[in-house]
Amino acid sequence: MEQAMDHSKILLSLPCLLSLLLFFSSQVTADLLDSDKQALLAFASALHHGRKLNWNSTTPICSSWIGVKCSVDQARVQAIRLPGMGLFGSIPSNTLAKLDALQTLSLRSNHLVGNLPTGISSLPSLRYLYLQDNNFSGNLPELFSSRLTVLDLSYNSFTGEIPDVFQNLSQLSVLYLQNNSLSGSIPDFKLVGLKRLNLSYNKLNGSIPTSLQKFPNESFTGNSLLCGPPLVQCSAVLPSPSPILPPISNPEEFHSKHKHVAIGTWAIIAIVAGGLSVLLLLVMVFIVCVMKKNGREGSEASKKKSSASEKSEKSKGESSNDAQNVEKNKLSFFEGCSYNFDLDDLLRASAEILGKGTYGTSYKAVLEDGTMVVVKRLKEVVSGKREFEQQMEIIRRLGDHPNVLSIRAYYYSKEEKLLVYDFIPCGSFSSLLHGNRGSNRTSLDWDSRVKILRGVAHGIEHIHSEGGGQFVHGNIKSSNVLVSQNFEACVSDFCLSSIMNTPVNCSRIAVGYHAPEVIETQKPTQKSDIYSFGVMLLEMLTGKSPLQSQGVDDIVDLPKWVQSMVREEWTSEVFDAELLRYPNIEEEMVQMLQFAMACVASNPERRPKIDSVISMIEEIWQPSSSNRSSSEEKSVRITG
Ligand SMILES: *[C@@H]1O[C@H](CO)[C@@H](O)[C@H](O)[C@H]1NC(C)=O
Ligand SMILES: *[C@@H]1O[C@H](CO)[C@@H](O)[C@H](O)[C@H]1NC(C)=O
Ligand SMILES: *[C@@H]1O[C@H](CO)[C@@H](O)[C@H](O)[C@H]1NC(C)=O
Ligand SMILES: *[C@@H]1O[C@H](CO)[C@@H](O)[C@H](O)[C@H]1NC(C)=O
Ligand SMILES: *[C@@H]1O[C@H](CO)[C@@H](O)[C@H](O)[C@H]1NC(C)=O
Ligand SMILES: *[C@@H]1O[C@H](CO)[C@@H](O)[C@H](O)[C@H]1NC(C)=O
Ligand SMILES: *[C@@H]1O[C@H](CO)[C@@H](O)[C@H](O)[C@H]1NC(C)=O
Repeated sequence: MEQAMDHSKILLSLPCLLSLLLFFSSQVTADLLDSDKQALLAFASALHHGRKLNWNSTTPICSSWIGVKCSVDQARVQAIRLPGMGLFGSIPSNTLAKLDALQTLSLRSNHLVGNLPTGISSLPSLRYLYLQDNNFSGNLPELFSSRLTVLDLSYNSFTGEIPDVFQNLSQLSVLYLQNNSLSGSIPDFKLVGLKRLNLSYNKLNGSIPTSLQKFPNESFTGNSLLCGPPLVQCSAVLPSPSPILPPISNPEEFHSKHKHVAIGTWAIIAIVAGGLSVLLLLVMVFIVCVMKKNGREGSEASKKKSSASEKSEKSKGESSNDAQNVEKNKLSFFEGCSYNFDLDDLLRASAEILGKGTYGTSYKAVLEDGTMVVVKRLKEVVSGKREFEQQMEIIRRLGDHPNVLSIRAYYYSKEEKLLVYDFIPCGSFSSLLHGNRGSNRTSLDWDSRVKILRGVAHGIEHIHSEGGGQFVHGNIKSSNVLVSQNFEACVSDFCLSSIMNTPVNCSRIAVGYHAPEVIETQKPTQKSDIYSFGVMLLEMLTGKSPLQSQGVDDIVDLPKWVQSMVREEWTSEVFDAELLRYPNIEEEMVQMLQFAMACVASNPERRPKIDSVISMIEEIWQPSSSNRSSSEEKSVRITG
């Protein structure tokens, strides 16, 4: 198991490292790679394929061949994924069987026939073999790689008995053989690591061996001659043993229980959140009243000044006590800002809570003249005024990019620190993704999701590249991504951590985005920004929040959850059900998932840099209607 985990980590971080290494790829290992290449060309030329394979001997195999992934050092082919490519025919011997560094082979949902060559099932490095949903026939191979972890041969036409060799596959965790024509009795596997099993709809007979009785009846249905727990007792035979408890490790059951818990806790959270926001509103009203009172004391003086002369007054006012009162009431606008209001106007404006973030609460304020701005009240600012002003200047400079939210003004007094931003009407990525999940929800499609994430990546790149690379966003999460009408994204809440005294783990929501090392050091870095970005990618792919709720067996860590799902097999269960509706994006989703896992590598050094993130997204994502093929395969089943 240990070994399997390590391995999957290595496998997952591959695409990222790959993109970095592309630049340095050399001819050192050309020989072995070339033999892999010849084997694949022979395979492709022997099979008819409905969808075009761009495999061409003149192009680099590791970077441009569809469905081919190489090892980190670019020396060998490590994974082949050609699901739903419309492959016809039988696999010629001596083609794929030559890829002796291959770890993953997915040819599912094609039209392959004939025997499954033993040379393939016994490839020494093979761990994941997905051949479901073809029409392979004949007996199952008698030899398998001892490292095999996932074997899916379901929905084919295999016949004969299940061979005893499965007993020796100590790494096997998933075995799917349903919907074939296998006969005979089931061998007593005794595989402790086996987590999922499906032998349904075959022609198996006899009683179910005790080691497999822990699996649910759905693992065995459709075998009319099969009996014993969890199916009906075998009739003719010996008196039955003592009744067996319903299987508690039943994955299905776990799943549904899990869902109930989640729904229950969500309801509670919703109620608590509702209560909290009422409370917040009350606190807000109180504070605003106090502020107004304070403000009035100085307002007599300030009222006389015209707002046009305010800027010059500020610099004069630094020294005099009198003017300090005036200042209390003054917003510092940045140059080039066309807004024309003062703090009083702002306080008179109607305000609506937009959200409570790590650093404070944001309000939407509508001024009397109809101008809408976002006001953020910072809590726990630790820096002095000068430092604060310098930081505001940095934030203003960084805001000079379409994917970074512009700050327009700020207010600093001892009691109160406010930031004023432009208002962006569409809301946050978080609300688009998770909000209103019900019948009348308009779902966020794949292209919009990726477009938003790409925008975020550009915003982060801007922040990371300015000032000689010294700046860090420090608070990347979906609620800090604002989205405009045409899905342009804008990152907010950046570069505040240095002036705030907010422990990174103060908010449960934020914790889900924080890299493990940040929770320890309390100091975000560019590398930890990449981690947070990776979590957001996973959030986009799975439709799940990084932190669901506080229930005992809840998902607390999205990367860990995805890893556990992925380690067993690539299943549609990982992906947001909403995304499964769209055709022909599966390969992109899988690649994006792998890439996201590289971004959340626990070792910061292994996370990619933001510019590689951007080029990777652009490499994976082919915005709709371009060359995402759709003619032959109307919809690709996503099961493995
Ligand atoms: C391979 O690429 C070369 C040059 O790009 C092209 O001339 C040739 O037709 C391609 N071969 C196949 C089989 O597509
Ligand atoms: C699968 O192959 C068998 C022969 O091996 C054939 O009888 C059957 O019709 C094929 N099924 C499909 C769906 O092509
Ligand atoms: C399992 O492995 C052992 C030792 O490697 C070998 O002796 C045995 O024949 C194998 N069993 C099967 C069914 O292949
Ligand atoms: C699997 O076999 C059962 C029984 O023949 C059938 O009802 C079911 O539709 C099959 N599933 C698929 C996906 O072919
Ligand atoms: C199970 O089926 C096989 C043939 O497929 C037969 O030889 C064997 O006797 C059957 N066993 C039982 C217990 O029915
Ligand atoms: C399978 O088990 C479930 C509950 O565990 C039960 O409701 C169902 O009737 C069973 N199905 C069969 C075919 O035995
Ligand atoms: C096994 O496959 C059958 C047929 O596709 C399905 O109905 C059943 O739910 C599956 N069982 C499990 C445990 O996944």
